[in-house]
Amino acid sequence: MNFEQWMRSVLERVERALEHYLPATNIEPAKLHDAMRYAVLGGGKRVRPLLCHAAGELTGARAECLDAAAAALEMIHVYSLVHDDMPCMDDDDLRRGKPTVHVQYDEATALLVGDALQSQAFVTLTADVLGPAQQASLVKELALASGSIGMAGGQAIDLDSVGVMLTRPQLETMHRMKTGALLRAAVRMGALAGDTPDASLMQSLDTYAAAVGLAFQVVDDILDVTTDSATLGKTAGKDAAANKPTYVSIMGLDASRALATQLRAEAHAAIEPFGARAQRLAELADLVVNRVS
Ligand code: IPE
Ligand code: IPE
Ligand code: MG
Ligand code: MG
Ligand code: MG
Repeated sequence: MNFEQWMRSVLERVERALEHYLPATNIEPAKLHDAMRYAVLGGGKRVRPLLCHAAGELTGARAECLDAAAAALEMIHVYSLVHDDMPCMDDDDLRRGKPTVHVQYDEATALLVGDALQSQAFVTLTADVLGPAQQASLVKELALASGSIGMAGGQAIDLDSVGVMLTRPQLETMHRMKTGALLRAAVRMGALAGDTPDASLMQSLDTYAAAVGLAFQVVDDILDVTTDSATLGKTAGKDAAANKPTYVSIMGLDASRALATQLRAEAHAAIEPFGARAQRLAELADLVVNRVS
């Protein structure tokens, strides 16, 4: 199977899993469930689910176990996007090529979609396909990565940094928390969904994920200034308009691109010992850095 075929098969599985683990619209409250499905289904690059499935190949994880972990990761990610787009945060009206949830529905619904997706993610991690010990370790990974020392904390720093000239280490910390933490969790959860990984495997995956996680937000900052809204499916040029410190605003475009390339090399080096078993992770590092949206 080549990378394209592998991606397609994982994306199909993940779409089915999300469809399965999200509450149906014939369950009350129908409007909330409709809005949750509007936010999650049929859009996005699904990078976190792809990383989760790729990492699972290193520990022989069953595809059904990875599906549950991947669906939970995507639910948390989408919750973060729905809230990120609200007027009290980045105030965006376009996401994944569609009106944002607070525009399509209303602000209270967007708030509740995020809340409910967060809970549904953890419900998903208690699926019967996962054993009790795995459920507990996956819940802990996802909770830590999405809370105040991970994504939510990074978002808090982001909002406090409007108009502030952050130092490079401060910017790096913000990016590692708001974006890197969940990407790291995606890799770790994929590995944890299989046979118990040894410490050195987890260490290598952490090094890989740290590089890919930071690269992801560096590239997001680059795309915000270099790519149009139609290609991105979200409003371009928002960071400068909102006076957000980004890699581009602090280092410039060329140095940001060079950093992304360097991080890709770091990611490759970290998983080199695993050879062909880590091929999908290597290809995903390339995808993260070379992507155009
Ligand atoms: C956008 O994430 C927000 C960041 C964390 C940078 P993605 O670029 O993964 O968004 P989707 O899921 O493809 O829409
Ligand atoms: C968002 O960063 C990170 C999270 C949603 C956690 P951005 O605010 O840069 O994401 P986009 O550019 O709106 O997708
Ligand atoms: Mg933001
Ligand atoms: Mg935003
Ligand atoms: Mg951005």
